[in-house]
Amino acid sequence: MLERVFVITADWNPANVKGDAFWRADPTFDQYVGGFPRETDRGFVAEVNGEPVGMVWSRYFTADAPGYGFVSAGIPELGIGIVDGFRGRGIGRGLIETMIAATPGDLSLSVEDGNPAIGLYRSVGFEPVGRFGQATTMLRRAS
Ligand SMILES: CC(C)(COP(=O)(O)OP(=O)(O)OC[C@H]1O[C@@H](n2cnc3c(N)ncnc32)[C@H](O)[C@@H]1OP(=O)(O)O)[C@@H](O)C(=O)NCCC(=O)NCCS
Repeated sequence: MLERVFVITADWNPANVKGDAFWRADPTFDQYVGGFPRETDRGFVAEVNGEPVGMVWSRYFTADAPGYGFVSAGIPELGIGIVDGFRGRGIGRGLIETMIAATPGDLSLSVEDGNPAIGLYRSVGFEPVGRFGQATTMLRRAS
């Protein structure tokens, strides 16, 4: 499910879809998805009628090989995607709240310019802390 959801997040913009094969060959695929679940990865899958329809996951990165939403090596970066047809029903909000509740410390993420998901992130406490390429890095402080 995570591999599918990674492609959903990477291709979030319907005007710029690169597709499954493109992303599976891209180095970021292995960076975000490879070996999941590592010991320090976290993930939650949402199911409807027993079928997976979305997932949130988090992974720690290093300064040498940062994710797009990297803040520090001690702060995991979150990714989230819901299968088309199941969006706008509160599933994403439920997943992100589940991840927040399961994470004892801070969380970061990256959201590309124009992605309306930024409203969801703000509403659960993420704040902009920087820029990387065409995206905003957001941080949710645990306290
Ligand atoms: C972003 C995403 C994970 C949100 O999950 P979701 O289940 O659709 O969102 P929810 O139904 O829980 O809605 C959460 C809030 O975000 C807003 N929202 C989410 N996606 C939105 C969109 N595409 N357009 C407008 N508002 C959106 C909703 O209005 C909602 O606000 P509300 O609770 O005050 O009504 C999901 O839409 C998705 O997978 N999108 C494509 C991939 C993507 O963009 N991933 C994030 C990359 S940073």
